[in-house]
Amino acid sequence: DNAYLITHALAKDTLSRLRDVETEQVSFRKGLVKLGRICGYEIIDGRMETEYVEIETPLEQTMGERVRGLDDVVIINVLRAATPFVEGLLKAFPRARQGVISASRDEEAGRSEDGSFPITVDYVKLPEITEDDTVIIADPMLATGSTMCTVLDHVIENAVEPENLIVLSAVSAPEGLLRVGEEFDEADLLTVSIDDRLDDNGFIVPGLGDAGDRAFR
Ligand code: PRP
Repeated sequence: DNAYLITHALAKDTLSRLRDVETEQVSFRKGLVKLGRICGYEIIDGRMETEYVEIETPLEQTMGERVRGLDDVVIINVLRAATPFVEGLLKAFPRARQGVISASRDEEAGRSEDGSFPITVDYVKLPEITEDDTVIIADPMLATGSTMCTVLDHVIENAVEPENLIVLSAVSAPEGLLRVGEEFDEADLLTVSIDDRLDDNGFIVPGLGDAGDRAFR
């Protein structure tokens, strides 16, 4: 019950183009950037507060509204498919501090009986997280949730609890949302779509294929 849908019409429109098998590499990558930007705006609109401030226009003094907390944002890029997605998020949060973590499913090892995959972590570089931060962990796909649970372990390890902890994906499988939601009830799971199911290989169906492959080759 900590899962939320991003329902902006442009998010759905962009995701539908990403799903289309005819969308080739360049359009796919640009689509992920665009989707990241829209999701960033939705996060600002739905979870961040504004405050009134006095501003001086060239003509006179007036009251304006500013978003609070834009200087306290951490975006974590789960390599590799999240890279273009994060590029879009940075348009909404240009001053975000960034973390990078390389975590990927060891598909040769196969899916274990509980439905999870062993995860190989090759590289972790995270900024310090403070209690004022909004932390956004971005990965376009949340399938079995194995990758995200591993990433969350690393993010939470030695860190204070941030103001907001957000797991952001484009498409999610119900199984993955359940697993991550159960293991990390302090995280809010935001996704543009909850798809039908996982197939035997742990791919999201209908999904959008392998986002990393489609964006990078
Ligand atoms: C994909 C995807 C997620 C993960 C989701 O990455 O980008 O990181 O699988 O699956 P899970 O929820 O079952 O763990 P992949 O391991 O293919 O690596 P890549 O991004 O480098 O292609």
